Amino acid sequence: MARFKNIDSLGALTGKRVLVRADLNVPIGTDEEGQKYVTDDTRIRSIAPTILKLIKGGAKVMVCSHFGRPKGDVIPEMSLEILAQPLSNVTGKAVVFLNEATGDGVKETLDAMEDDAILLLENLRFHEGEEANDPDFAAALAANADFFVSDAFSCSHRAHASTVGVANILPSAAGLALEKELLALEEALGSPLRPVAAVVGGAKVSSKLDVLTNLITRVDHLIIGGGMANTFLAAEGIDVGSSLCEHDLAGTARSILAKAKEIGCKIHLPSDVVAAKEFKAHAENRVTSKEDVQKDEMILDVGPASIDGIITDLKDCKTLIWNGPMGAFEIEPFDMATVKLAKAAAELTTSGQLISVAGGGDTVAALNHAKAADNFTHISTAGGAFLEWMEGKKLPGVEILKA
Ligand code: 3PG
Repeated sequence: MARFKNIDSLGALTGKRVLVRADLNVPIGTDEEGQKYVTDDTRIRSIAPTILKLIKGGAKVMVCSHFGRPKGDVIPEMSLEILAQPLSNVTGKAVVFLNEATGDGVKETLDAMEDDAILLLENLRFHEGEEANDPDFAAALAANADFFVSDAFSCSHRAHASTVGVANILPSAAGLALEKELLALEEALGSPLRPVAAVVGGAKVSSKLDVLTNLITRVDHLIIGGGMANTFLAAEGIDVGSSLCEHDLAGTARSILAKAKEIGCKIHLPSDVVAAKEFKAHAENRVTSKEDVQKDEMILDVGPASIDGIITDLKDCKTLIWNGPMGAFEIEPFDMATVKLAKAAAELTTSGQLISVAGGGDTVAALNHAKAADNFTHISTAGGAFLEWMEGKKLPGVEILKA
């Protein structure tokens, strides 16, 4: 595996100022009193070990991140200020918030604050230079730091000033969470134990074409579920009734199937399905063969016989990569296939037979729903970055940290 610069490679930390790139782009809800709060603090918790290690080593830490997509405008609702308290909660340290990310104010605040406090900078995307990877903005960010540490795998597909620009200027390293993530991903797709299975689900083939094209060359079993499976079934001449389906991608789907066959990657498509006339929870439904879907029916889940067959093959696999649900898991009972497969994967992982890595989009929500996420080997909190990794793309924010 490629080696990455880690925190220890930075040398002595005492008295050094370290800029940590985090991904504090977290989901926010509003409570009954109209107060905003973080609904899932996984990304905040993930950076705590890095921050604490840096502070313990004697460094002064400032944390930077984007939040939302303000596109260079200052949008008060997208301020990072509301994340100061959650960051303090997970680290047990005082957090000082500054409504700027660059300039003399940063230096003055750092000088004035306690050594073990954390400085939280304002939303990087309030500056146009961030997304443009403007060298002047990167230099301004770097000006107040001695070292740069990235702990935001979920932003590493963006070549922005705070992911790449600043790493070109300062001695840089991967933080503990990023290191852990890269190791897990390497184990899953870089040099995995074989056979390898990949589950790719979700609504549309069009959004995961590059993922599918790459995976057929890398895995032994490709399990296709969700609305995507309908597009493949239709391409094979199956009438999928009123199911979600991208009929215009029939040719593309057929060439993926042909290529997979040529390479020796086994594609799993459902042979039986759960069909209903309405897309709603507890809609009347039936299990039927894929050949017997009626014009007014929608396929909302993979059928039980297909899932059992997939689980039988999974038992022979040593590695699993999972992205996307198998069916309409948000509405019962169309969560059956997702839950059954997730539980099987979790059990195989717990018994030491399987290395399981999942991430991207609503995958984590689906695995949480199945109460299986905690037993997976690694769950990535990344969305777009996880998909780009599955596409086999080089991620600029990772490449720049290679030793
Ligand atoms: C994410 O939530 O996936 C990351 O924070 C990246 O956000 P972006 O898609 O707005 O760059």
